[in-house]
Amino acid sequence: MDGLFITFEGCDGCGKTTQLELLAQYLKDKGFDVITTREPGAKGLGVKLREILLNYDGEVSSNCESFLFLADRAQHIDTIVKPAISEGKIVLCDRHIDSTVAYQGYGRGLDLQQINYLNNLATGGLKPDLTLLFDVDTQTSMQRVGKNQDRMESAGIAFQEKVRHGYLELAKAEPERIKVLDSRKTIQQLHQEVLAIFAGLN
Ligand code: TYD
Repeated sequence: MDGLFITFEGCDGCGKTTQLELLAQYLKDKGFDVITTREPGAKGLGVKLREILLNYDGEVSSNCESFLFLADRAQHIDTIVKPAISEGKIVLCDRHIDSTVAYQGYGRGLDLQQINYLNNLATGGLKPDLTLLFDVDTQTSMQRVGKNQDRMESAGIAFQEKVRHGYLELAKAEPERIKVLDSRKTIQQLHQEVLAIFAGLN
């Protein structure tokens, strides 16, 4: 039996990682076989790509940036996500295809159709069963990130606003897959909402 593929998305500082960990713990306690993973940089080659993507301080063209995220995705899907799903595991993934649409498409202004095409190439057509989008206003997002910013986080407020807008457009276009949660709620309230959405799957 195939497992489940659930992705967690949102702007920097939206609280998705905390919710991913809470859901993982809940599911493990219930006896499910769960793995947690992330993009970019789950392991091996991905960790090297993440290091470049987040810390390289020279010029990086938007196309190059996209291809690096996509290279990480292809490696991650082929070596970690697909094998786990075919073993019947529940895969909880911190960021995936929608990050590239939101950040490189809406944020950097690259062509959305091309990003979709490249995403599809990188994943071999696999799509998440469910995506949880944690929506947060840009000011709160930047406050939570603080002063210690990586290359993507330091792209500026206008960039982050475009990313947020992009995510909300994606959710409008695919309401069945992408569920929007309001990150202003408390950690526990959000966790309960995540559980309710999970229970509604299938
Ligand atoms: P990370 O430290 O994982 O951020 P967070 O904790 O907010 O998830 O850094 C990932 C950064 O890379 C984040 O700013 C979003 C960005 N990103 C893209 O721009 N495109 C992508 O396809 C992915 C997966 C991430």
